[in-house]
Amino acid sequence: MTERQLNAFVVGHPIAHSRSPLIHGFWLQELGLAGSYRALDVAPREFADFLKRIDGRFVGGNITIPHKESAYAAVGRRDAAAEEIGAVNTVWLEEGIVVGTNTDAYGFAANLDDCAPGWDRRGPALVLGAGGAARAVIFALRQRGMTDIRLVNRTVERARDLSDRFGDGVSAHSWAALPELAADAGLLVNTTSLGMAGGESAAVEMERLPHDAIVTDIVYVPRVTPLLAAARRRGLATVDGLGMLLHQAVPGFERWFGRRPTVSAALRERVVADLDDEP
Ligand code: ATR
Repeated sequence: MTERQLNAFVVGHPIAHSRSPLIHGFWLQELGLAGSYRALDVAPREFADFLKRIDGRFVGGNITIPHKESAYAAVGRRDAAAEEIGAVNTVWLEEGIVVGTNTDAYGFAANLDDCAPGWDRRGPALVLGAGGAARAVIFALRQRGMTDIRLVNRTVERARDLSDRFGDGVSAHSWAALPELAADAGLLVNTTSLGMAGGESAAVEMERLPHDAIVTDIVYVPRVTPLLAAARRRGLATVDGLGMLLHQAVPGFERWFGRRPTVSAALRERVVADLDDEP
């Protein structure tokens, strides 16, 4: 009898720029598994129907923009991470039921564990932004026991909504409070789109941060954002966002294909080469 081929997907709209097929394809080949992972472009109005019909065709997959909130609503069951983050980026099947999780918080923490061990003992944490990405980061910081998390956002009401949601230990502030909040911050996390190639950068006065602070950005194009470059000039430890992308892919791959892949230097080089090829 031939082994059943296991098929997984990433679904988004548009989907052409997703690096997930490259990452999962690398692991399938590295581990010599007879599986497939492909990108599917599904329009929002067809998404719920698509998710209902994966059984028999796929073992599971990743969900990306703009479907993560729809997936949260459409899955048959969600785990605690998906519940807290309010979005689903990974699904699999259990006895015909589509189960959803969110691996962004895992990916964020695993990347820091890899590149800045001990980061979780470096509070207070200063988080720039209050969107979906910030929600995943706050969940990770809380899970790792951080008790003083300061959210700074252009629209302070959004920061307040998140701090209310998470409760004790998470406070909301405007950009104007940044210099004061930075003075004793051990970890600075940018979750905003500021610093993305071609856009505005996040203006943070690095000299305000303690000399042993860690600075990380979830933006990974460019790899060294203006924020990370400024932190490096100041001599601070920095962690780029590419590792989060790689690590967040691990739990899904393990669920679908039954083997836990590793985030190696070779994988990173492969993805960097692909990003550098982008016109
Ligand atoms: P995501 O799900 O990726 O987090 P999002 O929900 O659109 O995306 O959130 C984007 C974040 O980047 C928000 O915190 C946003 O600030 P506002 O809530 O004030 O909109 C922040 N952001 C985007 N562009 C910005 C800019 N030019 N200046 C400051 N913050 C910006």
